[in-house]
Amino acid sequence: MTSKGKIAIVGCGLIGKSWAMLFASAGYNVMIYDKDSAASSDALVTIKDELNKLENSQLLRGTLTAEQQHSLISRTEDLETCVKDALHVQESVPECEEMKKIIFNKLDSLATNKMTLCSSTSCITPSTFSENLKHRAQVLVAHPANPPYYVPIVEIVPSTWTSPDIVSRTIELMKEIGQKPVTVKKEIYGFGINRMQYAIINECWRLVSDGVMSVEDIDAVMSEGLGMRYAFLGPFETCQLNADGMADYCRRYANGIFNVSETFGPVPKMEGKAGEEIHRQLCEKVPLHSLDVRRKWRDERLACLTKLKKSMGD
Ligand SMILES: NC(=O)c1ccc[n+]([C@@H]2O[C@H](COP(=O)([O-])OP(=O)(O)OC[C@H]3O[C@@H](n4cnc5c(N)ncnc54)[C@H](O)[C@@H]3O)[C@@H](O)[C@H]2O)c1
Repeated sequence: MTSKGKIAIVGCGLIGKSWAMLFASAGYNVMIYDKDSAASSDALVTIKDELNKLENSQLLRGTLTAEQQHSLISRTEDLETCVKDALHVQESVPECEEMKKIIFNKLDSLATNKMTLCSSTSCITPSTFSENLKHRAQVLVAHPANPPYYVPIVEIVPSTWTSPDIVSRTIELMKEIGQKPVTVKKEIYGFGINRMQYAIINECWRLVSDGVMSVEDIDAVMSEGLGMRYAFLGPFETCQLNADGMADYCRRYANGIFNVSETFGPVPKMEGKAGEEIHRQLCEKVPLHSLDVRRKWRDERLACLTKLKKSMGD
C-alpha cells in the first residue's frame, strides 16, 4: 500500500476523528494529536470500531479495507511530530477564538513553506487567527458539516491573504476524499452554512416562543416538507421550479415574502422560558439517555440517502 502523503489532525474530538477517517479512506497517512493524550488513544479505538461497522454495513468509503484504513492512522503526544512532513494540517480544537489564535501561532512556528494550515472552525473568520503569522498565506478554513462522513459539504474560506494555490489545493483535496467543497468568496462571520442554519433556528425558536407551533410539528415541516426537496434541490432551484423560473417566482411571490419577512421580529437570545419549553418537548421525543441510539439512527438514514443519491447519479 503506497501512501499519498501525510495529513496532520490537531484536536481529535468529534470532528478531528471524522477527518482522520475521511483522509485515511482516500489512502493518506494520518497522524492525530490531541493535547489530552487519552483523547487521541480513545480516538484510535473509536475509529477502529467505526471503520469495522462501516465495512460490515457496506458503507466504508474508498477501496481499502477497514483494517488497511486503520493502519494508516497513528497518534502522537507531540504537536511537532504530528505536523512534521505533513502536506496538510487540519486543526480541530474547540470553537474558541483565543484557542484558535494560540494553536495557529504554534502551527506557524512549525510549518514549512509548503504546508496547508487549515481550520475546521464553524464561524471564526481565518484572518482573526492568521493576521500576524509568518505563514498566513497558507491559512484557510475548511468547515465541514456534522456528521462529515455522511454529509459531504465543506465550506472553503480563504482570507484576503490566502494564496490562490493553497485554496485550489484544498478544494482538490476535499474532492479527492469525497467531500463537496463550496467557496465562501468573502470573509463573513458564520460563513454560509451557519448563517443559513441560524436563520432557520431563529425563526423556529420564535414560532415556539410565540405559541404558533409545537417543536414536533416544526421538525416535521423540515423532515417531511422542506427538507425532502432540499436533499436534492437548493432553495434557489426550488424557486426556479415552483414558478416559471426565478423571474416569474419574484413577480408572483416577492411582495408576500417581503411582507412576511418584515414580521420576523428580533433575534432571539435562545434562553429563558422558551428554551426550557423547547428542551422539555424535545426530551419527550428523544430523552437525553437515548442520544447515542438516535445518532446511530440518524447516521443510518443519512447513509441510505447518500446511497440513493449516488444511485440516481446526483
Ligand atoms: N461538532 C460539530 O458539529 C462541528 C461541525 C463542524 C465544525 N466544527 C468545528 O470543529 C472544531 C472542533 O469541534 P469538535 O466538535 O470536534 O470539538 P470537540 O470538543 O469534540 O473536540 C476538540 C478536541 O480538541 C482537543 N484540544 C483542545 N485544545 C487543544 C490543543 N491546544 N491542541 C490539541 N488539541 C486540543 C480537545 O481535547 C478535544 O479532544 C470546532 O472549531 C468546531 O466549531 C464542529
